[in-house]
Amino acid sequence: MKKTIAVLGGDGVGPEITEQGVKVLEKVAKKFGHTFIFKEGLVGAAAYDKLGDSFPKETFDLCVEADAILFGSVGDPKYDNTSKDPLKGLLQMRKQLGLYANIRPIYTFEAASKKSPLRPEVTKGTDFVVVRELTGGIYFGKKGRNKDRTSAYDTMEYTTAEIERIVHFAYKLARGRRNKLTMVDKSNVLETSRLWREVTMRIAKKYPDVETDYLLVDNAAMQILKRPATFDVIVTENTFGDILTDEASVITGSLGMLPSASIGEKTSLYEPIAGSFPRAAGKNYANPTGSILSAAMLLDYSFGLKEESKAIFKAVERVLEHGYGTKDIATDKVLGTREFGDRVAGEIVS
Ligand code: IPM
Ligand code: MG
Repeated sequence: MKKTIAVLGGDGVGPEITEQGVKVLEKVAKKFGHTFIFKEGLVGAAAYDKLGDSFPKETFDLCVEADAILFGSVGDPKYDNTSKDPLKGLLQMRKQLGLYANIRPIYTFEAASKKSPLRPEVTKGTDFVVVRELTGGIYFGKKGRNKDRTSAYDTMEYTTAEIERIVHFAYKLARGRRNKLTMVDKSNVLETSRLWREVTMRIAKKYPDVETDYLLVDNAAMQILKRPATFDVIVTENTFGDILTDEASVITGSLGMLPSASIGEKTSLYEPIAGSFPRAAGKNYANPTGSILSAAMLLDYSFGLKEESKAIFKAVERVLEHGYGTKDIATDKVLGTREFGDRVAGEIVS
């Protein structure tokens, strides 16, 4: 198989962890006889500094022409609270590529979960997926300040059509898994949530083979830590999904473990859920597992290469079982970012 992958390292630890994802993909290509052509593009502060735009047109074109996108992270403290904030580039990228469905698997590797503050009997067997709506809600609603800047607002708005497409997406995903869907909202208070619930209850009738339940987001935040192994697919709006997935990372041992896939109208994008972690940038200690597992999701979701995807997953599992890991997850031997990537690549077998 011959495919082009756009590689957008971005800012902070983005480039160094993405490099490990690429390394593992190169190894897969070699072992399984594929050709992956990697094309690098600029995004975030890195793009702003060179081109005056945090999601430049040339990067958009590169993404649209590629078969899949492997992305790192954006964010640079030097632009915090300024009009140049590179996070705007991330939001533009999501919107312009129409990436409305963000899939965030929460899976526990037994070795890494020893680092979780939760007891092993609670986290054992956790394997659920959060489907986060990614192009609507407060992130993209009207926002602003009054004239003397002493009051501010952000607007949460959702259309029936936006809710329908993500809820159908989540149901289809549940059908390929354990046939359970949990819809999370705040319908006791928010009108948007009431619409979400109405639409979901209507759609649920079309999937009688899937068991549906509904949780208010505050309760969901608690249940996810109390009984993580009972969830299968969770579907929720943008902001709730953002918060719940950082929380859920605690189950897996480290935020650095988690990959994600963003799927939509154009090319799909794969990225770790952790941010740019500026403090660790260039220091070779950030955990690249989120990027390596994002590469595994890319092979499965975008190219249908299930065996290859599994090979990456198994390689990560073996390396962790041997006690290796970056300093956030190692149970025995601490490795640097690059060295961890080398180990995983070395474990890829066809
Ligand atoms: C994420 C991140 C982003 C988000 C930030 C960096 C804007 O936290 O992908 O979860 O809130 O979506
Ligand atoms: Mg987040």
